[in-house]
Amino acid sequence: MRGILQRVKVRPSDLICPFFIDENVKAAVPIESMPGYFHLPINGVVNEARSIIEQGVKAVLLFGLPKAKDEKGSQAYAPTGIVQKAVSALKKEFGDELVVMTDLCLCEYTSHGHCGIVEKGEVKNDATLEVYGKVAVSQAQAGTDVVAPSGMMDGQVEAIRTALDDAGFDQVGIMAYSAKFASCFYGPFRDAAECAPQFGDRKNYQMGFANTEEALREIELDVNEGADIIMIKPALAYLDIINEARSRFNMPIAAYNVSGEYSMVKAAALNGWIDEKAAINEILTGIKRAGADLIITYFAKDVGAWLYQQ
Ligand code: PBG
Repeated sequence: MRGILQRVKVRPSDLICPFFIDENVKAAVPIESMPGYFHLPINGVVNEARSIIEQGVKAVLLFGLPKAKDEKGSQAYAPTGIVQKAVSALKKEFGDELVVMTDLCLCEYTSHGHCGIVEKGEVKNDATLEVYGKVAVSQAQAGTDVVAPSGMMDGQVEAIRTALDDAGFDQVGIMAYSAKFASCFYGPFRDAAECAPQFGDRKNYQMGFANTEEALREIELDVNEGADIIMIKPALAYLDIINEARSRFNMPIAAYNVSGEYSMVKAAALNGWIDEKAAINEILTGIKRAGADLIITYFAKDVGAWLYQQ
């Protein structure tokens, strides 16, 4: 009876699976702060994608860990960069069977670990926009379907849309990290992506978590600048924002169930304190019920096999 009356059902195709592709490893290396998650070598990417496609998941979000970092994050837009290579490999193998999305940020590529260009100890918004345009075009040249700018610079969606269109990539979509809060729940990711800022924090470009209106204004700006999908991140402490966005914007909405949200469940499950599958099911259903169409989640890798097959 519950089954036939259940209105919200999370399907594997609602999920987007993040991959960390690491130029420094030859085999999959476990990420300590994210039990069950791995740094993948470039030659492991196709197999990993095949296993999630077999479970019904249809999209990946790629993060790269380059061999060399520098002040300007130049490996983020190198034609032979790690993400560019992974995109080409995946599109060659799977074509339209897999939606390839690429995180667009500098923090994994800069020696200082900030999301933008730093001058005199400060992140420079407009200088960063130019570089984001270059990164978008190089990811598009590699064949990405969707770029996902996560750096929270003002005007980034417009700058990227213009750069893509000017280079003839008007078909490449933008999933904008529109409402991205300065959150402690990114802790394990910073370990995973080796991108903790070497000085200061991200509070001058990520949002304070107590203000709904500000989040909605950020979303509205991105919609007006040309975003195709808007994103709210993290998910669990922000279900009200997802819900509010759902009622105000007639747009596809993604929610990012971030690393800390994943690791908390894993840690409790490993201690035998929580029923892992039941917790994942309840969490993902809650995020979708709040109004998300798509959920970026590290659970995507495992749940396809059992999630709502009934
Ligand atoms: C980089 C970026 C972060 C995440 C995605 N892209 C970290 C940050 O902003 O500090 C977090 C993802 C997660 O915690 O799962 N801009």
